[in-house]
Amino acid sequence: MAEDLNITTSTDKTEQYTALIPQIEALLYGEPDLVANLANICAALKEQFKWFWVGFYLVKNGELVLGPFQGPVACTRIGLGKGVCGTAWQKAETLVVPDVEAFPGHIACSSLSQSEIVVPVFDNDEVVAVLDVDSELLDQFDEIDAKFMEQIVKLIKF
Ligand code: SME
Repeated sequence: MAEDLNITTSTDKTEQYTALIPQIEALLYGEPDLVANLANICAALKEQFKWFWVGFYLVKNGELVLGPFQGPVACTRIGLGKGVCGTAWQKAETLVVPDVEAFPGHIACSSLSQSEIVVPVFDNDEVVAVLDVDSELLDQFDEIDAKFMEQIVKLIKF
């Protein structure tokens, strides 16, 4: 397949995700390499939505370790229950943070990040990674992002 992403100009989130998800499925189709697939998911999300930072942290030896991402350099390791990522991992649930300053223990990899969503990635009911997305604007994520990002991470095969 051609690797160019078809970016929709719609400003409606549901339409944007609806156009993007089949393209992510096509990018992942037949490709067993985890890093390649995580990298393409980050690139596709970043290209469509232009968020400040999109990336994965992978559970390795009891902590989250930075994986493929798009955006500025970031913290490499996050403990269980630490920050938004470590809390989403511990609770095994999606966290939407409208204002990172108001989240106790938020880890500021960049002072520019103002709102954030973290979505756990499961393999056999166990959290094996998280998808972390940051915006430089307040209140950029909601239950629509949560629903579609949860669909996207279900496409990942570990
Ligand atoms: N803010 C995250 C840390 C990761 S960076 O945003 C890329 C947190 O509180 O877990």
